[in-house]
Amino acid sequence: MSRPIRVCFVCLGNICRSPTAEAVFLHLLAERGLEDRFEVDSAGTGGWHVGERAHPDTRAAAASRGIEIRSRARQFVAKDFDAFDYVVAMDGSNHRDLLRLARTDEDRAKVHLFRDFDPAGAPGQGVPDPYYEGGFDAVYDICEAAAEGLLAHLTGRA
Ligand code: 4NP
Repeated sequence: MSRPIRVCFVCLGNICRSPTAEAVFLHLLAERGLEDRFEVDSAGTGGWHVGERAHPDTRAAAASRGIEIRSRARQFVAKDFDAFDYVVAMDGSNHRDLLRLARTDEDRAKVHLFRDFDPAGAPGQGVPDPYYEGGFDAVYDICEAAAEGLLAHLTGRA
């Protein structure tokens, strides 16, 4: 079998959007029996919440759909580009920060915007940050749509 596709979802704090994206994507893989074909992680461009579990409202939004978010926050570092094939930014600001961290054209080519895979997303659109504004359930729904689109893309069924 070919080696797994390695995907890292990245937001700012790694406690709201990217842990949701990671958990939703893992859930889709489990539903479809595709776990062995992927390695999935998430990280934040910022380090303020390193070691923390996801935001309580993020975990509650996922729990209401039967999904448990277990990840602990960590910060994305340039070396992470070596460990992943797809580095998927939650919004344009994360996307720019990742491109600043990228060392080579090969790194840069790994950076994608999550909602570019969302059939309902407009070009360049981000997942709204719920940390200050709320809207945790809506963030979950957006992550679900974009994760479906990303999986279709990666399995050649887009
Ligand atoms: P996230 O949300 O990037 O979706 O995890 C945020 C979490 C924390 C902060 C900002 C956004 N913060 O400024 O601490």
